[in-house]
Amino acid sequence: MGSIFKDNLKQAVAETEAIVYSYLPAEEGHQKTIFEAMNYSMKAGGKRLRPLLMHEVYKMFGGNGKDIEPFMAAIEMIHTSSLIHDDLPCMDNDELRRGKPTTWKVYGYDMAVLAGDALMIFAFETAAKALELGADAARVVKAMGILAAKTGIYGMIGGQTVDVELTGKPVPREKLDFIYRLKTGALLEASMMIGAVLAGADETQVKTVESIATDVGLAFQIQDDILDVTSTAEVLGKPVLSDEKNSKTTYVTLEGLAKAKADVKEISDRACETLADLPGEKEFLAQLIEMLVNREN
Ligand code: IPE
Ligand code: IPE
Ligand code: MG
Ligand code: MG
Ligand code: MG
Repeated sequence: MGSIFKDNLKQAVAETEAIVYSYLPAEEGHQKTIFEAMNYSMKAGGKRLRPLLMHEVYKMFGGNGKDIEPFMAAIEMIHTSSLIHDDLPCMDNDELRRGKPTTWKVYGYDMAVLAGDALMIFAFETAAKALELGADAARVVKAMGILAAKTGIYGMIGGQTVDVELTGKPVPREKLDFIYRLKTGALLEASMMIGAVLAGADETQVKTVESIATDVGLAFQIQDDILDVTSTAEVLGKPVLSDEKNSKTTYVTLEGLAKAKADVKEISDRACETLADLPGEKEFLAQLIEMLVNREN
């Protein structure tokens, strides 16, 4: 990976975090605990991949306003809420996330459930602020619809449902693909589609962006499964062998490590090829997608 890309990425992550943090609640008032629990997990770190992808797609389609910013914060809130719930004792029962004790370890099971709920709904409260920043109302409504659909029962929550239900059971490949497309792919689809919609991309372009994001999501989750067996907790910032602990069928257990690695490359290459057909400046975006193959955390 080029050092110029690394520098650009570092700067983009810093800018993204500043935007995201500016929408977090002040830690004051009687319900202070929920604000602290929300901010704890939001500020713990993370790659910020979803808001980064959203911003890059927005710029690629000519977007140059601030109206994208509330949506960047919103998608990171929803993603973080999914992680808080994913780590709960009743789900994956993990104690480390983004290099820190998980939200439930610090704030308790009850507050972690509430913090996840809170971030999920505060995301929509935040996204609605795009209107105050001069966004086109019809585009905001469309983007809100995408955000809700890709988060909900036909998106991330639907995927997590099947993932949890099939824990400890054999999963055929076609069902595993369904789980990955929904539990991980859906929020990446929302990220990239919203960038396109707010910048005024047409229906066909939004569909193309969705198909790129589906591939990015699949490659991303396979890489996540690979790292679960090949990395260390220090590098990942979350426990390794979590899938084995929970007797999960993963892409790696089903297809083997070598094929999983080859497929991550093939699927991300396909995403980059489709991306090449779209208009606009997309070098950084292509590099970001490529980074998913080589990422170590
Ligand atoms: C982890 O997502 C959950 C999956 C969908 C695999 P990330 O790997 O993007 O987590 P952070 O945001 O960097 O912590
Ligand atoms: C979770 O998949 C995807 C979510 C929607 C949170 P994993 O359970 O594999 O994610 P990690 O490995 O805990 O981050
Ligand atoms: Mg899980
Ligand atoms: Mg997990
Ligand atoms: Mg995992």
